[in-house]
Amino acid sequence: MSSIKCIGILTSGGDAPGMNAAIRAVTRSAIYNGMEVKGIYRGYKGLITGEIVEFKTQNVSNIIQRGGTILKTARCMEFKTPEGRKQAYDNLLKEKIDALVTIGGDGTLSGARIFAQEFNVPVVGLPGTIDNDLFGTDVTIGYDTALNTIMECVDKIRDTASSHERLFFIEVMGRDAGFLALNGALASGAEAAIIPEISVEKDQLSEMIEQGLRKSKNSSIVLVAESEVTGGAIGVAERVKKEYPHFDVRVTILGHLQRGGSPSAQDRIMATRMGAAAIDALMEDQRNVMIGIQNEQIVYVPFSKAIRNEKPINRDLLNVLRITSI
Ligand code: F6P
Repeated sequence: MSSIKCIGILTSGGDAPGMNAAIRAVTRSAIYNGMEVKGIYRGYKGLITGEIVEFKTQNVSNIIQRGGTILKTARCMEFKTPEGRKQAYDNLLKEKIDALVTIGGDGTLSGARIFAQEFNVPVVGLPGTIDNDLFGTDVTIGYDTALNTIMECVDKIRDTASSHERLFFIEVMGRDAGFLALNGALASGAEAAIIPEISVEKDQLSEMIEQGLRKSKNSSIVLVAESEVTGGAIGVAERVKKEYPHFDVRVTILGHLQRGGSPSAQDRIMATRMGAAAIDALMEDQRNVMIGIQNEQIVYVPFSKAIRNEKPINRDLLNVLRITSI
């Protein structure tokens, strides 16, 4: 029998579709296992300011299909200070919260890790980010929905690109990772992807142009991962205008629309499985771990590994993209 009687749950960092499905699963699994649940609003900020509300099973009704997070989210600078974290801990004690489940990306898990170490609080993290950049899990919550959104947008841009015979650079999110750009390109049949993982090694733009964009068509679509390393879509387009002025170039930045929308079936299922697994982990006395999914199986990944290790991108996919875009 676990000694944990009450858990707190929060979402932090950039929102991701499927976070609500995760909140629902954590809440209901905890209640099912006899625990109390407290919803903490606005991420670590709400832990510091005490925006904490008791959650019953009906608090999470009718949310599995909704994008965003009903708990709201924030990036909290104060939680980066020892004083901020102490205040957060005082609120945990006041609210009689024995353990935390935090849903978010790299920054969220880094905050969870240091908090757990400083105050010896059991914390379990769920990977919630469209970027898919957390090590130890095949996918993160929100990634699949964002990929589908990108695919739908590119399909639409292709209509106008092909009518005008233009070269489009479409910038997608990912922070410093190219998962959305590479798999978004594969899913939408784009001609190429420019990703940060490769940009450090070679000039992807000149290679792409030298190899020739798709011969059978006069229009092309290239997905560019946002990042200082790639230069973003605007940076790449500027270069093309200077170095290859014969192209009729346009830029689209998909931006925050990639973060919205109703979660896909895959994200809802992942989030639900991971949410239930977070409660299992706490009952098994696991702490300071992120719940991951590897080959369809739930795994526990120590925070230190999930955060620090750079998740490798599957480079074979670049070749598949090159071959299928001739
Ligand atoms: O981490 C998720 C993410 O959407 C990144 O892809 C992007 O770089 C960043 O968040 C944008 O953050 P904000 O919403 O604070 O501008």
